[in-house]
Amino acid sequence: MLEFDGIRKSYGMNLVLDHVSFTVTPGQMYGFCGANGAGKTTTMRIAPGLARADSGEVRWEGRVVDLELRRRIGYMPEERGLYPKMPVAEQLEYFARLHGMNAAAARRSATDLLDGMGLGDRSKDALEKLSLGNQQRVQLAAALVSNPDVLILDEPFSGLDPTGVDALAANLAERRSRGVPVLFSSHQLDLVERLCDAVGILAGGRIVASGTVPQLREREANRQLRVVIPGSDGRWAHDLGYARVDSAQDGEVLLQLDDPGRDQDVLSAAMAVGPVAQFGWRQPTLVEIFREAVAA
Ligand SMILES: Nc1ncnc2c1ncn2[C@@H]1O[C@H](COP(=O)(O)OP(=O)(O)O)[C@@H](O)[C@H]1O
Ligand SMILES: [Mg+2]
Repeated sequence: MLEFDGIRKSYGMNLVLDHVSFTVTPGQMYGFCGANGAGKTTTMRIAPGLARADSGEVRWEGRVVDLELRRRIGYMPEERGLYPKMPVAEQLEYFARLHGMNAAAARRSATDLLDGMGLGDRSKDALEKLSLGNQQRVQLAAALVSNPDVLILDEPFSGLDPTGVDALAANLAERRSRGVPVLFSSHQLDLVERLCDAVGILAGGRIVASGTVPQLREREANRQLRVVIPGSDGRWAHDLGYARVDSAQDGEVLLQLDDPGRDQDVLSAAMAVGPVAQFGWRQPTLVEIFREAVAA
């Protein structure tokens, strides 16, 4: 597994990362979330050695990531760094060779990737001749072309249209199923919620929440019970005495309980009012979890 352990990093007086620790296990897709400037890019740059931590370390399979291990990491930078005038396939082969592939394997891998991305017919074109969306795909291909054992992708979905998002997601899912840990940053929380096995939220230089989405949902403090009794007003809920009513309209009541164990009492009370069409704990979205974690 890939472990970030106690990473601290300052730029001058600005303490950006204050003991950041989290783990991405093989076969896990880990979404790294945080507001702009939270330190996601700084964290991700430390693994392949593009930035140095002041203290703490990154380990892969229990070993501190050194020069040799870095070659096994596929990293996609946020600031896209390809050569505009170089033909697409040529630069992919170049990146594969940098990571230690032989020429034949590099060529095959580049061809396969470009074909898979629907860019097979553009392989001899200079990168700058491609649309921005396709340049983005090539940037991704550069991170994938060496068949890395670990993937660290900084905002890989930004700028992709829905088709591009699906194609990339499928590609990453396929690598994950082969046991590759995939760490990517994104501020598109709906996407993270849909794609990721685990999520880490960075705020104030620390990981303020980390785990699977169901685990984070369990942690959510302000869990709401949702009761729908068509045609009723919310008065019955206000009368309960042991519940706080957050909203009541169109037969739907959202309420919170100091003692969540009393949810069945709420159900009994609701059934006395009329037929209960829906009853259950509301699942907070990742956006809500994020807001709460960042505000805490
Ligand atoms: N090379 C650098 N020199 C000085 N400050 C930097 C440098 N890189 C990042 N920072 C600062 O570190 C903080 C985190 O930035 P960054 O890691 O890019 O956040 P994110 O990727 O979450 O948006 C910001 O305040 C940014 O200004
Ligand atoms: Mg960033």
